[in-house]
Amino acid sequence: MPFDGAGSWAPVALSSDLPPGTVIPAWTSAGSIALWRSQSGRATASSDRCPHRGMRLSHGFVRGEALSCIYHGWSYSPSGGCIRIPAHPDLVPPETIRVAVQQVEESGGILWVAVEQPAKQPPQLDALVPLRSLTVEADVRAIEDAAGAEVDANGLIRPPEFPWIGLLLAPQERHTLVHLLIEPDRSPAERLTASRFAESLRRRAEERQRESAE
Ligand code: FES
Repeated sequence: MPFDGAGSWAPVALSSDLPPGTVIPAWTSAGSIALWRSQSGRATASSDRCPHRGMRLSHGFVRGEALSCIYHGWSYSPSGGCIRIPAHPDLVPPETIRVAVQQVEESGGILWVAVEQPAKQPPQLDALVPLRSLTVEADVRAIEDAAGAEVDANGLIRPPEFPWIGLLLAPQERHTLVHLLIEPDRSPAERLTASRFAESLRRRAEERQRESAE
């Protein structure tokens, strides 16, 4: 699976879930990240821990091209360097104050974050467009069982009942994030069908997960 382990890409969110000027929490197997988009549209994945006193940067805010911590307002650039300390407005912050950043690629409406150093670009899923994301309280195995199909080399499940649907899986610490993708020319009724299918799949996968834990 391309999303699970070192040297891979994690499909952390849909592009539409990260408008300019916002920050959201996200997660890869390398740890928690603050995923943010500057006002000009650049997406950045920063470590979710402020170097000052450890506040989660995903609780912070975006101003212009910087992410600021909610606690004391230290601001960080997309390359990770601290660019402003409000309590010392005349100080140029030392280069040693920085947050780790991970490579981000955006394609086909999906935000991919590099886990370590992937050798290749993220999978191109050109034949599909994102519809929505769901949080499923189940692991990949339970979702595969519920869907009746396994994850392919691109990290997708193609349900046999609806081969025009793709389920792009992103395992999280305690659950699985499922991005629902469909072929772009599908009708509004089919989009509704896809959404209902995904919700039904979530119920079935969570049931399987509970059964396997008993
Ligand atoms: S903890 Fe982030 S600025 Fe103080």
